[in-house]
Amino acid sequence: MSTHPWWQTTVIYQIYPRSFQDTTGNGVGDLPGITSRLDYLADTLGVGAIWISPFYKSPMADFGYDVADYTSVDPLFGTMNDFDELLDEVHARGMKLIIDWVPNHSSDEHPWFLESRSSRDNPKRDWYTWRDPKPDGSPPNNWVSAFTGPAWNFDETTGQYYLCTFTTKQADLNWRNPEVQEAMLADLAFWLDRGVDGIRVDVAHFVMKDPELRDNPLVEGEPVLNTKDHGEYDLYQHLHDKGHPHNHGLYRDVRALLDSYQPERFSVGEIYIADWNEWASYYGDLDELHLPFNFSLLWAPWTAQGISEEVNTAEAAIPPGGWPSYVLGNHDNNRIATRFGEEQMPIAAMLLLTLRGVPTLYYGDELGIPERFIPPEQQLDPHGRLLPGAGRDGCRTPMQWDSSAHAGFSPDTAETTWLPLADDWAERNVAQHLDDPHSLLNLYRRLLAYRRSSADLQTADYEQLAAPDGCFAYRRGKLIVALNFTDEVIELPFTGEVELSTYPDAEAHAGRLRAHEGIIVAG
Ligand code: NOJ
Repeated sequence: MSTHPWWQTTVIYQIYPRSFQDTTGNGVGDLPGITSRLDYLADTLGVGAIWISPFYKSPMADFGYDVADYTSVDPLFGTMNDFDELLDEVHARGMKLIIDWVPNHSSDEHPWFLESRSSRDNPKRDWYTWRDPKPDGSPPNNWVSAFTGPAWNFDETTGQYYLCTFTTKQADLNWRNPEVQEAMLADLAFWLDRGVDGIRVDVAHFVMKDPELRDNPLVEGEPVLNTKDHGEYDLYQHLHDKGHPHNHGLYRDVRALLDSYQPERFSVGEIYIADWNEWASYYGDLDELHLPFNFSLLWAPWTAQGISEEVNTAEAAIPPGGWPSYVLGNHDNNRIATRFGEEQMPIAAMLLLTLRGVPTLYYGDELGIPERFIPPEQQLDPHGRLLPGAGRDGCRTPMQWDSSAHAGFSPDTAETTWLPLADDWAERNVAQHLDDPHSLLNLYRRLLAYRRSSADLQTADYEQLAAPDGCFAYRRGKLIVALNFTDEVIELPFTGEVELSTYPDAEAHAGRLRAHEGIIVAG
């Protein structure tokens, strides 16, 4: 019996609910759709946990990350009964369900905000951050929205600005007000009481801001750009609009709430912080978030050196007893198949599933679905509409199940799907991949099965091994993993039996990597 808690040895699969399976024919995925595909997740793939992006009542200004009622299911996605059934069916298959928790902001259509904006002396006025304009009528400070433009929206009725770090329809909650804390934690407890196994915390480090709302200084020199173009946002040092030390108290409270439940509940925070010490501070004394998501592989150069440096730095930054996590793709970043190149997809899969820590696999990456180009004028994503080039629609296209109409995502009767399918869906889909022993999906299946059977891959320490240029090699217990980031043959200093190669043939050899090959060797 493993002495590790379930979340340390699991593999998380992220579902963007609009895009996984549509059962009604309206072109948008729904909760019964996810339930209908659980056998794929549990048996065909064999992942341990599912994280579902928001499905709460929402005007969908940011496709659900604008929550109008934290304890509801949006009718677009189904009903609370559908949710309960999904949860039961997930548990019946021995899997865990992680839901998205969005504490930084609610929708401007949340009843709390409607009250708050109704008058300056409404009891909920202080549940959000309201400030007078400067004497010239401009916003109270220089904070910029993560989606570009001012982070303040002027409200004509009451003559003040409210803070909105994303779209103007996402109003930042004022967590310094104890009533907000109490109400938000009560809404979180609603789901924990229902039996959800964990939460993914949206923009976890944004929640607490500088109480004095001081201006952010400009970046000195060249701004460090993210994988996406954030435009104006990247021109500032975000010293005051996020990352305030008071976040730590909040996550200790959240952890205490999670820890009051049995069996163990889990939290993973969306923490896009480049400074490793600050990033690691969200583990606290192992009394805050169980895991901060580690996104460093998303922006590192895709080379043996670039990736190994990130892994080594992450391993060194994590506090004693802390557990790593790795992400290669999600609903905010361009698809990995397009970023790293199709030929590198097999080693990307092996990397993700053999490093120490919790891997999160984004739906469709197991097929290598490419980024779908969506012209700026057709973007639905608010970020893409505000800032051409930053659009996220291209990584949110419908899941590709088979070669039937709409790739099996929507019923035949559907006129269209909410976003177009990626171009190659007729060949790149689950049904076709299952039939092809060389497919990426079958490699993921082999890797996931191997990981489930290997205590070393689940829990052993990580140690980088010396290897020739172009190869990233590491030890996990008795196993050696070697990955070829190049299109050339690389001779290796290793011996032993190859347990698994990304090439599904009998030619794999511990002493040599073929182009783009990855191997797991029992050393
Ligand atoms: C992070 C989410 O991943 C992203 O999709 C969303 O737009 C912002 N947070 C705002 O909630």
